[in-house]
Amino acid sequence: FILLTFVQGGLIIKCAVLLMCLLRSCSSIGKYVDFYSRFSPSPLSIKQFLDFGSENACERTSFLFLRQELPVRLANIMKEINLLPDNLLKTPSVRLVQSWYVQSLQEILEFLNKDADGKIIYDFTDTVIRIRNRHNDVIPTMAQGVVEYKETYGTDPVTSQNLQYFLDRFYMSRISIRMLLNQHTLLFGGKVRVNPAHPKQIGSIDPHCDVTEVVNDAYHNARKLCDVYYKNSPELQLEEFSVKERGKAITVVYVPSHLYHMLFELFKNAMRATMELHLDAVEPPPVHVQIVLGNEDLTIKVSDRGGGVPLRKIDRLFTYTYSTAPLPRVETSRATPLAGFGYGLPISRLYARYFQGDLKLYSLEGYGTDAVIYIRALSTESIERLPVYNKSAWRHYKTIHEADDWCVPSKEPKDLSTFRSV
Ligand SMILES: Nc1ncnc2c1ncn2[C@@H]1O[C@H](COP(=O)(O)OP(=O)(O)OP(=O)(O)O)[C@@H](O)[C@H]1O
Ligand SMILES: *[C@@H]1O[C@H](CO)[C@@H](O)[C@H](O)[C@H]1NC(C)=O
Ligand SMILES: [Mg+2]
Repeated sequence: FILLTFVQGGLIIKCAVLLMCLLRSCSSIGKYVDFYSRFSPSPLSIKQFLDFGSENACERTSFLFLRQELPVRLANIMKEINLLPDNLLKTPSVRLVQSWYVQSLQEILEFLNKDADGKIIYDFTDTVIRIRNRHNDVIPTMAQGVVEYKETYGTDPVTSQNLQYFLDRFYMSRISIRMLLNQHTLLFGGKVRVNPAHPKQIGSIDPHCDVTEVVNDAYHNARKLCDVYYKNSPELQLEEFSVKERGKAITVVYVPSHLYHMLFELFKNAMRATMELHLDAVEPPPVHVQIVLGNEDLTIKVSDRGGGVPLRKIDRLFTYTYSTAPLPRVETSRATPLAGFGYGLPISRLYARYFQGDLKLYSLEGYGTDAVIYIRALSTESIERLPVYNKSAWRHYKTIHEADDWCVPSKEPKDLSTFRSV
């Protein structure tokens, strides 16, 4: 009996200690989140990223910058996660995502007061790689949480609007954090600075990104998928125009993987629409691409003849839960589906906006769609677009949205005859 109480007592003490540790670490990490979220993130231009990676830049500078900047970016978005509806925060998926952020913030804070010597900098690079891998599945996991929440609790327009606002900012923050992590690991993670797969790149940036090459790449890979699903695919028609030098390949200082991502998504959408509308055609109408380099913008237009989308629905296509494709089964098929989650357009638009560009859809309903990617032509103008947590952002979640101030079109027009005598 004594032994039993002793064991139980020990267990209770252990539990209490564990709980205290948990509480303490939670509250102290909370303090750090509060502290770092008071700083605004520092947006970098592509030019600055390049200078960072040039010959004379060193791992130490990168270490010192990231040690400050990563906690700021993490803390800013962690504050915003906390503003989500309680029932969403309670879903296992969102809890998991939150735990990744806490863990990663903690790991970086370990380096806070350390001297920037060789060993420490080396360890830091390891930590950066570990953090990057930990956050690999953030997008599908967060998406899963949102789906669970919507299925269980349903949503009203205000919550949907807040969720859209949050997800845009949350995913944008993730794109930016990954950009920082990737640059550091690509430049300093290996023995040599040159990326063997892309020797001309500075980390993930190509100072002479050949746009036509990326378009062709994305087209061919989308086409392969299309051929699998429809046993046929539209041809590509490509046109280029530059206000500068005619006849020279159009290049831009950019992250080729981001450009590829956007184009691949647009091609998949264009091909699916085209094939669905021309199921029996021997030769479906081609996808037409124009690449235009101006003084300010590099514009890429992807036009299809897939029947288009009515204006009423265009905005909806950029929401995180809209797709007209049947939901693909993630567990059963490893292959990338042609369509399915409805994340193609919204995430692509974030990539475009990340460096001050944009992605827009113009549709001629009944005929086809033009999807247009805008990219800044100058690397000094391509500056990160980052969410910041402050009172303005906070207000977005907390204010009760006011009633609409436009008339609702009535279904049955008023009897106008009463006005006739006036
Ligand atoms: N070029 C297009 N022509 C007609 N409809 C389009 C076009 N592009 C997009 N859509 C519509 O917009 C919806 C959302 O597109 P989005 O790319 O975001 O998601 P998805 O293609 O359904 O799935 P995925 O996440 O795999 O891309 C599509 O389901 C489709 O109905
Ligand atoms: C929040 O930050 C943005 C960007 O720095 C700024 O424009 C805005 O005025 C800030 N809002 C408040 C209330 O401080
Ligand atoms: Mg798509």
